[in-house]
Amino acid sequence: MIKLFEPHVGIEEIKSVENVLKSKFWASGAGAGKVLEFEKKFKKYVKSNTCIAVNSGTAALNLAFSLFDIKNKEVILPSLSFISTAHCIVENGGIPIFVDIEPDTLCIDPEKIKQAISKDTTAILPVHFGGMPCNLNEIRKIAKSHNLHIVEDAAHAVGTEFNGKKIGSHGTAVCFSFHPVKNLAMPTGGLISINHKNHEKFKQLLFSRRWCGITNRRETDYDVKELGWNYYMNEFSAALGLLQLKKVDKLNKIRRKIAKKFYNEINIKSKMQFNENCSYHLYWILVKNRQKFRQKLHKNGIETGTHYKPIHLMKMYKDNISLPITESIGRQIVTIPIHPNLKKSEIEKIIKFVNNYA
Ligand SMILES: Cc1ncc(COP(=O)(O)O)c(C=O)c1O
Repeated sequence: MIKLFEPHVGIEEIKSVENVLKSKFWASGAGAGKVLEFEKKFKKYVKSNTCIAVNSGTAALNLAFSLFDIKNKEVILPSLSFISTAHCIVENGGIPIFVDIEPDTLCIDPEKIKQAISKDTTAILPVHFGGMPCNLNEIRKIAKSHNLHIVEDAAHAVGTEFNGKKIGSHGTAVCFSFHPVKNLAMPTGGLISINHKNHEKFKQLLFSRRWCGITNRRETDYDVKELGWNYYMNEFSAALGLLQLKKVDKLNKIRRKIAKKFYNEINIKSKMQFNENCSYHLYWILVKNRQKFRQKLHKNGIETGTHYKPIHLMKMYKDNISLPITESIGRQIVTIPIHPNLKKSEIEKIIKFVNNYA
């Protein structure tokens, strides 16, 4: 079976896990400092003010919104995303306001953001879908004129660039995921990159909130002033992350090359565009009879996925809103394998069977 996603694992990753294992210090507090080192290196990579590592993209989003008072306030977001993109707003007492996406990028449509702004809006939550950069120029303009925070969901976007800069250096808070299927893979992991004049204060808050609210640690003494969670990154993840970070640009280049070939050789009109700045975490196409298409590919040894069922159609979020583009794409979207381990023959096979059955 050609896998839909697959991490790139070398001998150095195996050695690094073994080293952490043998050190017997696996948690970040008592560990060999791999988490701290990863934060420093990632900060340099994206060129941001502060980076705080956590144990998932979900934790990153939950904590990022804890920095702003969003209680009973509205946050504007797309519906075509993983469920954590919406849960983080509810978790922090906010109200998710779903708006439609652009049909070519599947990223949030800035015009729809403008229409959704009310006196209660406090933030915009764009998702760089599949690694495609959102129109941050427009989104930043809107945010500035209405005094809104931008919290970016960059779970798919390690290595994505916008205006010549890496994603992570633009929004107020930018949240990454290092889930094993992501471009920078760990067993579990996430990170919040902060670009805000209060980044030092935010850093202290996030340090404490990612570990149960614990502050003022001196020897065995500590204090707790507020609620916190067990969200810290472990040393195994950080050790792997350091190695993955070194090669992520090279691996993204391979993804881009595959995406270009898919774009040129797949005979479907509605498919992911080619963009040199995209990290291509996934590659999507639209097909009319999705179930039949996916079955045919599966029978021929090609795994596919559906990313995603729109969030506003889930029972918890069901509302009377209509998002025609999101709903239409949600019915037809299929993701096909794109990862750096694909062999040339596998790429040819994917193109052939997609063209045969779409
Ligand atoms: C768009 C998006 N946001 C957030 C997340 C959550 O990340 P994690 O799985 O690391 O919690 C994911 C993960 O799949 C995602 O795809």
